[in-house]
Amino acid sequence: MKQILFSFPEDTSLATKLSHTLALPLGQATFRHFPDGESYVRIEESIQEKEILLLCNLKQPDTKAMMLKFFCHVAREMGSSRIGLIAPYLGYMRQDKRFQAGEAITSSIFAKFLSGTVDWLLTIDPHLHRHHSLKEIYSIPAKTLHASSLIATWILNHIKDPLLIGPDEESQQWVSEVAQEARAPYAILSKIRHGDNKVEVHLPDLGPFKKRNPILLDDIISTGHTLSETLKRLKEMGFSSPVCLGVHALFSEGAQDLLIRSGAGQVVTCNTIPHPTNAIDVSHLLAKNL
Ligand code: R5P
Repeated sequence: MKQILFSFPEDTSLATKLSHTLALPLGQATFRHFPDGESYVRIEESIQEKEILLLCNLKQPDTKAMMLKFFCHVAREMGSSRIGLIAPYLGYMRQDKRFQAGEAITSSIFAKFLSGTVDWLLTIDPHLHRHHSLKEIYSIPAKTLHASSLIATWILNHIKDPLLIGPDEESQQWVSEVAQEARAPYAILSKIRHGDNKVEVHLPDLGPFKKRNPILLDDIISTGHTLSETLKRLKEMGFSSPVCLGVHALFSEGAQDLLIRSGAGQVVTCNTIPHPTNAIDVSHLLAKNL
């Protein structure tokens, strides 16, 4: 079956890399919003009997969901035989429980939406906490890749005597994996979230690691408050200029400044979402799995 790669406008740079690595043609399509906010989609290629690989990071999924639906609908009308979604960042994974009566469990609802839209899904480090695997909520083949080896390699190449710090208990599994590959010790914090912009973190005794260079490792940097609170506690303990390393650069308004103001020496992310802090390239990881 012939394949063709399409991407949302925001993901063009990663799509170009993938298209070169995989020697796949890059399809032309228009995705835009009308001034009133409604979505417009046009596929400008013949896709008859072709499998489509559609690259779309799902940061701000509400603005992209209808476009995805419309794209897949017209692609099938035009004869595409299969559509796979490459979502380097998969949105709506954090509300995986009804914390209060009446709340929508959006991880499951969004999984149903995508399962009814595309034929398969490939993603990197989705936020799996109370769901242990995507299979629990996705009814289509959904494969999870991990950026841990790429992150460990970046650490080995850039930071001398690192100490890895995971912000909460759920990060232990992957922080320990990165630490093992980067041949570095690690510590895990406990975190209490009081609201979108209010987080409390508690650090264990890091006295034995005083001469090491801390790297705060999180899967998602959104408002930056988790890492900013950690930076403040580390400063109190006498550590200076830690590196903040996130897989997915969501960065809501002001988040990067907050990290710098709170004492980050460097902020580094993977290019699952385009952002000036991108320093770790995931294109080969994706290509190997396509
Ligand atoms: C949540 O459990 C995630 O692992 C991240 O710690 C969280 O999404 C970071 O959010 P923020 O940057 O808003 O503190």
